Amino acid sequence: MGVTVLGIESSCDDTGAAVCRDGYILSSMIANQDVHKAYGGVVPELASRAHQQNIIPVVDRALREAKTDKNDLDGIAFTRGPGLMGALLVGTSFAKSLALSLSIPLIEVNHLQAHILSVFLKRPGEDPGLPRFPFLCLLVSGGHTQLVVVKDHLSMEIIGRSIDDAAGEAFDKCAKVMGLPYPGGPLIDKYASKGDPEAFPFPKPKAGKLDYSFSGLKTAFLYFLRDRLKEDREFIVNYKSDICASIQHSIITILMEKLIVASLQTGISEIAIAGGVSANSGLQKALLEEARQRDWKVYIPERQYSTDNAAMIAITGYYKYLAGHFTTLDVSPFARYSIQ
Ligand code: KG4
Ligand code: ZN
Repeated sequence: MGVTVLGIESSCDDTGAAVCRDGYILSSMIANQDVHKAYGGVVPELASRAHQQNIIPVVDRALREAKTDKNDLDGIAFTRGPGLMGALLVGTSFAKSLALSLSIPLIEVNHLQAHILSVFLKRPGEDPGLPRFPFLCLLVSGGHTQLVVVKDHLSMEIIGRSIDDAAGEAFDKCAKVMGLPYPGGPLIDKYASKGDPEAFPFPKPKAGKLDYSFSGLKTAFLYFLRDRLKEDREFIVNYKSDICASIQHSIITILMEKLIVASLQTGISEIAIAGGVSANSGLQKALLEEARQRDWKVYIPERQYSTDNAAMIAITGYYKYLAGHFTTLDVSPFARYSIQ
């Protein structure tokens, strides 16, 4: 039998476990935490407690679905960071104990590197086109927005990043001021599909050549709504789709502009997107449109692998296993962990 790695994800509010054998995903399980909905955002202490409740059943389900016994595992990969310290501690401690009890290697994984490698995920029998190195990845998650040159599975260089909020944060904060529940990104995407993206123009932020900034846009959006609500108390209800389409269009335009500059500057035309916001239908459409015009080859993770999942941790663990990148049992989580 080949190399089998169990991946464990617990960086934020999803507890995930997945089994990867020889680069193929045999199972990927996730337990979402609805407990945060009432609070309009993730509550770290509640996340940590829910991970403790979920982790054993989720790992058990992942092993069963993969028809794999724990004694068949060759390595245990886990998210070391970045993320919420209390949440990371649960996955880290569990992974350490399991690796110790099975006497197999422990493999620490950077969550952001794993998001990028989600474009390599495939199940047995699938043969998707995979990116060739070096490729350029726009990583857009709830906590990070980065432009990354991916030199190989384990070597990446950040060439641009947000100097303030992440794109996912911009989606979620704009949704929050509209009174939409957390996380608002998917809801803005849904309502935007029926609206006019040109209905309300928003100012473009200023940042370095390959850097992003979203905090000004969020403030402009807040003031825009405040002013319109003074004239019409039902403004949000009456124009929900147009508002969502317009703010989504602004965020996508900002994201795409710098991605184009990055491609021109590096000469790379193999382009990937990854992270929760890569599930956005408007961003995917804009990327495919740009690919047609610029002759790019583009790679978009499957929807279940755009947002947090353990399959991406398992495949990153698999590549690290092949490279012999193991970690020791005294490893501790790293809440602010960069990919380089
Ligand atoms: O990668 P992810 O699951 O978690 C982090 O590592 O941060 O990303 C979560 C982010 C949230 O901000 C969420 O609103 C956003 O991804 N997101 C979306 C969509 N689906 C998830 N944003 C816009 N459109 C979507 N369809
Ligand atoms: Zn993530």
